[in-house]
Amino acid sequence: MKILVLGGDGYLGWPTAMYFSNRNNEVAVVDNFIKRKWEMEVGASPLIPIANLHERVKVWKDISGNEIKIYIGDLTNDRFVGKVFADFRPEVIVHYGEQPSAPFSMIGNEKAVETQVNNVVGTLNVLFSMKRSCPNSHLIKLGTMGEYGTPNIDIEEGWINIEHKGRKDRVLFPKRAGSFYHLTKIHDSNNIEFGCRVWGLKATDLNQGPVYGIETEETKRHELLCTSFHYDEVFGTALNRFCVQAVAGTAVTPYGKGGQTRGYINIIDTIRCIELAVLNPAEKGEFRVFNQFTEVFSVNELAALVKEQGEKMGLSVKIENIQNPRKEAEEHYYNPVHTRLLDLGLQPHKLDNVLLDSMLKRIIEFKDKINLDVIMPKVRWENKPNN
Ligand SMILES: NC(=O)c1ccc[n+]([C@@H]2O[C@H](COP(=O)([O-])OP(=O)(O)OC[C@H]3O[C@@H](n4cnc5c(N)ncnc54)[C@H](O)[C@@H]3O)[C@@H](O)[C@H]2O)c1
Repeated sequence: MKILVLGGDGYLGWPTAMYFSNRNNEVAVVDNFIKRKWEMEVGASPLIPIANLHERVKVWKDISGNEIKIYIGDLTNDRFVGKVFADFRPEVIVHYGEQPSAPFSMIGNEKAVETQVNNVVGTLNVLFSMKRSCPNSHLIKLGTMGEYGTPNIDIEEGWINIEHKGRKDRVLFPKRAGSFYHLTKIHDSNNIEFGCRVWGLKATDLNQGPVYGIETEETKRHELLCTSFHYDEVFGTALNRFCVQAVAGTAVTPYGKGGQTRGYINIIDTIRCIELAVLNPAEKGEFRVFNQFTEVFSVNELAALVKEQGEKMGLSVKIENIQNPRKEAEEHYYNPVHTRLLDLGLQPHKLDNVLLDSMLKRIIEFKDKINLDVIMPKVRWENKPNN
């Protein structure tokens, strides 16, 4: 198949591109390297050095014999996106090409606007280009479980049947975002649903939980093929931060009471979920939603797992809950449905000791590169005088 990976220089995009390239698909990637600029703006960089996209594509070609085509440009530029679609004519579009961080979007006015324009306009351009150049292609779009928030009822997979004043309908599940970033994903979902309903496009919206893991079958084939690992407060996830803190010998710091509970997924399963969506496409006119995670943990549970595994490896790990920089429920009900990907055949790789062990060992290799200044939270959700 012809698969276009938007955001192909990113943490998930690059391993996804190699995965499909390795399985006899024609793969092209789009990126404008804006993430690398955002990293410089906040003073963070991935723990393990990342080769540039051209180098990675060259090494991949040398190793696999397969070509990955590169389109460099900005998804918010409608002309650029139009040209890419007209030239490549994808059958599948895997859309990772967005600003992915909640704290980044909460730095202030400028970053909130930048995040919303980047994500919402980029996705709108993708929808128009699909309509013009390849109306039968299948859009697989990365959303997040954070779109739903933490309602006091079970979370359904995108849609819910409701009965109201004696009448029934099937409507999109109500959303309550936790940041301006999460709001972009809600806006995207609404725009995509509209494109399916009105233009007959096909789309799968993957509401994904935080992803962990650094290695896939393809990244392990050469050191220059590895993908990014962020542990800073802006782009790093809680588990990554905790593992790095454990290795650095500083306290592991869950925010607030630490009862914030989320669904998590291994990077290997993320890519498998994309493959399952590719192999079982949405119908014409269908806006399909899958909740993409495999296990649920509270932040305190993650910290305890890191402590347990770290101590088995001889690290001395202390846990210290710190003031929460975010505005979020720290104790809440959480029971999201997530059966549709399992029904399609997903066999979850769980967060077990072996995986934590290998993550910690990999971090230990790069221990001298850890920058402790970027871990503790400085971005706060409440209003600040300058914003
Ligand atoms: N990593 C996670 O834990 C996670 C969890 C849930 C959802 N997601 C979503 O999955 C997607 C990928 O996440 P990631 O962790 O790989 O992020 P990432 O930042 O590593 O990758 C995104 C890539 O998109 C590119 N990009 C962004 N805006 C662009 C634009 N306007 N034009 C061209 N390229 C652009 C960036 O340069 C970057 O290389 C994001 O949409 C994110 O919100 C990620």
